[in-house]
Amino acid sequence: MRPRIICHMVSSVDGRLHSERWTPIVASQEPGLLMRVYEQTAERLGAQGWIVGRQTMQAMTNGSSHGAQPPSPLPRSPHLGQRNGRSLAVAVDPSGKLHYGADHVGGDHAVAILGEQVSDTYLQELRQDGVSYLFAGADGHDLAGALTTLGSSLGVDRLLLEGGGRINGAFLQAELIDELSLLIYPGIDGLTGIPSIFDFHGQGEQVARCACCLARPWRPASSGCAITWNVCRPRLEQPWLEGVGSGARKARVADGKPRLQAVTTASDSQRLTR
Ligand SMILES: NC(=O)c1ccc[n+]([C@@H]2O[C@H](COP(=O)([O-])OP(=O)(O)OC[C@H]3O[C@@H](n4cnc5c(N)ncnc54)[C@H](OP(=O)(O)O)[C@@H]3O)[C@@H](O)[C@H]2O)c1
Repeated sequence: MRPRIICHMVSSVDGRLHSERWTPIVASQEPGLLMRVYEQTAERLGAQGWIVGRQTMQAMTNGSSHGAQPPSPLPRSPHLGQRNGRSLAVAVDPSGKLHYGADHVGGDHAVAILGEQVSDTYLQELRQDGVSYLFAGADGHDLAGALTTLGSSLGVDRLLLEGGGRINGAFLQAELIDELSLLIYPGIDGLTGIPSIFDFHGQGEQVARCACCLARPWRPASSGCAITWNVCRPRLEQPWLEGVGSGARKARVADGKPRLQAVTTASDSQRLTR
């Protein structure tokens, strides 16, 4: 079974991701406040690891290419390093561009999701570094298959998807996001073209239509707000959307187009105003 995927992100009010463009928090000059609140929120979600796109992981790895040709061809089957009870740091890296230089990223055990076309030399490098790896089909884009393999081979049932926008968009399009945990920074970017929470590169009609219903709102001390939503996908043939979570009101479908509402229960509202 594939793990439950919680997309955990921090964005500006307009959903954009380049935090260096955001204004400083007026009420606090505390350095690192944004990341502290982000990590604190992540801890509440109870995941066994996190998963990011190749570009995002690139900024966290600084190894170099050093693999040698192995004595015999390596099978395109999952290879497990020594996890030793650590959380997982998973990168979707179809072409094998990342060089880890260690078996961890920030202390979490490194796992690479690859395309089967990567070279044996690269796989040998990952083995030497102690990195676990598995495959997402020939081109590395079978995300659903890779997650199922990840769940069964590494025994994870809950992972945080932490960007960037392109890999989030690919997960969205593949209908692999179960929850969205969104920390909204109290600032506006405002510039067109700046990456956003979901940046699917494809045709408009290919993007999965989703709705959200409130799951767990909370207000971290001193900055922004954090809201966790359940993500649901309406089936157009259903006249009413049902079973999308305790806080959701049924949504009416008119003219073949889903009209969806995300509403709070009374208890949610009370928690929000506290
Ligand atoms: N504010 C936040 O919470 C937050 C969080 C994370 C990142 N960020 C920011 O986001 C930026 C990076 O985001 P990004 O959108 O450019 O890159 P990304 O999502 O981190 O990585 C994109 C890469 O993933 C691979 N990929 C894309 N679609 C795929 C698919 N369908 N199947 C398999 N692999 C796929 C491709 O790798 P190849 O090119 O190798 O094919 C693609 O270039 C950085 O500036 C980072 O700082 C912000």
